[in-house]
Amino acid sequence: MADKKIFLGEEFIPTQWYNLNADFPTPMPPPLHPGTGKPPSPEDFAPIFPMNLVEQEMTPARWVDIPEEVLGIYKMWRPTPLYRATGLEKALDYPGAIYFKNEGVSPPGSHKPNTAVAQAYYNKAFGVKRITTETGAGQWGSALAFACQQFGLECKVFMVRVSFEQKPYRRIMMMTWGADCVPSPTDTTEAGRKILAQDPDSPGSLGIAISEAIEMAVLRDDTRYSLGSVLNHVLLHQSVIGLEAKKQLEAIGDYPDVVIGCAGGGSNFAGLAFPFLADKIAGKDIHVIAAEPTSCPTMTRGPYGYDFGDTNQTTPLLPMHTLGHDFVPAPIHAGGLRYHGMAPMVSHAVNLGLVEPRAYDQIETFEAGITFARYEGFIPAPETNHAIAAVIQVAKQAKEEGKAKTILFNWSGHGLVDLAAYDAYLSGKLTRYELPEEEIQRALKALEGLPKIG
Ligand SMILES: Cc1ncc(COP(=O)(O)O)c(C=O)c1O
Repeated sequence: MADKKIFLGEEFIPTQWYNLNADFPTPMPPPLHPGTGKPPSPEDFAPIFPMNLVEQEMTPARWVDIPEEVLGIYKMWRPTPLYRATGLEKALDYPGAIYFKNEGVSPPGSHKPNTAVAQAYYNKAFGVKRITTETGAGQWGSALAFACQQFGLECKVFMVRVSFEQKPYRRIMMMTWGADCVPSPTDTTEAGRKILAQDPDSPGSLGIAISEAIEMAVLRDDTRYSLGSVLNHVLLHQSVIGLEAKKQLEAIGDYPDVVIGCAGGGSNFAGLAFPFLADKIAGKDIHVIAAEPTSCPTMTRGPYGYDFGDTNQTTPLLPMHTLGHDFVPAPIHAGGLRYHGMAPMVSHAVNLGLVEPRAYDQIETFEAGITFARYEGFIPAPETNHAIAAVIQVAKQAKEEGKAKTILFNWSGHGLVDLAAYDAYLSGKLTRYELPEEEIQRALKALEGLPKIG
């Protein structure tokens, strides 16, 4: 019988992160300064990020060394186990192999600390005392709170109001790790006050919370801002997932035909998929799928263009699939997938045809998550359920075609702090939601007047 889990010893934690930017067949379009219309200089980012992370954001290097201090903290939970989903295979009567990389074993319960720890380290090394950030479901906020605690940094988290109300336990986790967490929009920033004046009951959005966190960071010299997804350096840090998965599969003589991850801002998907995309670019035949919600269909329906990363237009213009920087997604339970844009690197990979995006309704994703929990035991995060919905769809189709494909997916986090979402599903309170076409037209309008790609 095949092993259920493939473990690696701590000596196999990767010592370098992988940067797909070095291997794209055509280079990514650069970000643009909204004022000059030219690529921003490193100094333009200086009030927001420490310079050591700005350098990483812009690096063309294929490999970046992971500092010893970061590796020391990674040892708390890395390498994460790779599981063979034998229970799910049986439930689907699937002739092939399904593997998942369990990123839910980290202290905060998701992949997010892979970059949170790295970012806290570089901020500390640069002399920063306090970090501000936004969070959707609270996964990122709790990961950064944990990471800041490891390096003795203060942490201030703006949590999207709808999630703050739906998910009190992540706020408690953040506070346990010593962070200050407030529901966004707040009346403590210009950006928050502007939104509250238009809509006092605003459910908030990641775009708004980002504006608040950036505003608070630039006000104080000892403070910088940290983003949990989207940017190149975040995707770089997440590459440990795919690098480990490759070694684990190699250890048992297997290799995936299909690689799948859910995508909100794109970081866990990229973390698993990019080391495999390097092989695809070099000629391997791999099908790579990014799964997103039908309520926030950034890649499947959003235009590819230059847009701001936040609602208040404080970030540089990023080349990405976007639903418009003022898009406020429906309050679905996968809070971490409610972001208007997609990482420029993932958007570029989609545009080059290296990645196929697919969208799933939340009802379908909870059905998939519950199937997974019943046959594999672990209860997945609502975000992760999107990847599982894609896995089940791919497995069923392969079976119909008589193919025994090897499927690998990222189990980006556990759902033990998201049980209210499961309760809503199990008690029949969740509804289907497809973004109306008017919203796509509105997104296109929001991009009018901004530079075009190409
Ligand atoms: C468990 C989990 N998976 C996926 C995501 C989506 O983020 P990203 O696309 O950056 O991986 C989140 C975001 O909060 C998350 O918490």
